[in-house]
Amino acid sequence: METLEPKILRFDSLPSTNTEAARRAMQGAEEGLCIVAREQTAGRGRLQRQWVSPAGAGLYFSIVLRPWIDASLWSLIPLMAALAVHDALLQTCKVETDIKWPNDILFAEKKLCGILAETIESDTGRAAVVGIGINLNTEAFPVELREVATSLEAAMGKALDAEAVLQSLVQAFARRYEILQATGGPGEIVREWSRCSTYTNGKRVCVSSGGEVFSGVTRGLESDGALRVETDAGEIRVVRAGDVTSVRPELQNRER
Ligand code: BTN
Repeated sequence: METLEPKILRFDSLPSTNTEAARRAMQGAEEGLCIVAREQTAGRGRLQRQWVSPAGAGLYFSIVLRPWIDASLWSLIPLMAALAVHDALLQTCKVETDIKWPNDILFAEKKLCGILAETIESDTGRAAVVGIGINLNTEAFPVELREVATSLEAAMGKALDAEAVLQSLVQAFARRYEILQATGGPGEIVREWSRCSTYTNGKRVCVSSGGEVFSGVTRGLESDGALRVETDAGEIRVVRAGDVTSVRPELQNRER
């Protein structure tokens, strides 16, 4: 197994770093290609959402991967990426974050970072593009977004060195990716994710998946990263896609 060797390409403005990385992956770009932009004019989020990406307000980063692990374990890539962000923010910014399944990074229950992992089929084989958007400050965000999002500057209480965050992220990513591909690595990623997230066990959540909405309590991860949720009827449901949101105790009481 080779060590991931990141190669960073920087742009002032792009529609989406994920789209640019995917285009290059289709043309045979090597594993480790990183696309970074100061702004995105058509930033993309999970579930076809928009990712607001004003200049200098966030770190907009995408990396091309060509994993050799079994296709059934590619679903661990977003979880591995979330762990890398968690590591980098702790090491470089001393900010302790939470991970909301599968890969949202939260601080004080607000979103600090989102991750969009996509699979690309090309003549040179299958690739994954992992896009990471970290909010650096929220001043340029629309008001409604400021209510649900937070930023690294807010979490740290001071201005930060975005370049140091990027370098730390790239290193943490390479380390977690190496673990994912090592013998026993997928199990370690699941264990580490579970240790770093308050969503792993006993969290009251609302799940929206495949047009269905239900609530329940989280009961750990499957080996492929899917989330087990025990419904109010006592049935264990395995969630592989969709949105999971925490239900606050005061709202639970109001429901009753
Ligand atoms: C989400 O939480 O919905 C995922 C957001 C992912 C945003 C990042 S920013 C860099 C990369 N380029 C994109 O267009 N999206 C991802």
